[in-house]
Amino acid sequence: MISLIWAMDENWLIGKDNVLPWHYPKDLAYFKSKTKNQTVLMGDMTYESLKGYYKEKPLPFGKIYVANLVDKAYPDAHLVKDIHQFFKETKEDVMVIGGKTIYQLALPYAKRLYITYVLGRHQGNVYFSPFDLSKFKVIEKTMEDGLIFAVYERISS
Ligand SMILES: NC(=O)c1ccc[n+]([C@@H]2O[C@H](COP(=O)([O-])OP(=O)(O)OC[C@H]3O[C@@H](n4cnc5c(N)ncnc54)[C@H](OP(=O)(O)O)[C@@H]3O)[C@@H](O)[C@H]2O)c1
Repeated sequence: MISLIWAMDENWLIGKDNVLPWHYPKDLAYFKSKTKNQTVLMGDMTYESLKGYYKEKPLPFGKIYVANLVDKAYPDAHLVKDIHQFFKETKEDVMVIGGKTIYQLALPYAKRLYITYVLGRHQGNVYFSPFDLSKFKVIEKTMEDGLIFAVYERISS
């Protein structure tokens, strides 16, 4: 099953250059709880950003896939050059963890979405690409410290 997880504000803002536009420990804890030891896929930009954040420490995931159009060797991850082929063929449960480009490419294959709604409008320059959320139904919704953690499942047609 392919799942996407991201946090966005009221304007669907998700990034400021190559980092998050905010610091919400509760959201980081939620992200960790959903991705720890899980198979994840991310774009090269997000991978490099996380590597900078974790420095010498290993990334806290299970198997790691990194999407990149060009050849690149990753010490701790598998390169995915053809993301559509990957999504069509994989039998794994994969959490897609960003960024903007990879969310957009992964969305048609997603069965589940973990969206954190950050209240208010923040400063940044990277937005989640608009899509039709009515194709998904809410299966969980909780609120904590001004954040809404919502889980959606695709409505099967
Ligand atoms: N709010 C959140 O929850 C959240 C989470 C994660 C990231 N973000 C934000 O998202 C932003 C980064 O997004 P981004 O779009 O710049 O980068 P990205 O999605 O992390 O990475 C894009 C990478 O995907 C590769 N790519 C593009 N098309 C591909 C394809 N068809 N197959 C395989 N690989 C492909 C590109 O390769 P080339 O370099 O060869 O073109 C590029 O290296 C940052 O601002 C970050 O903070 C936010």
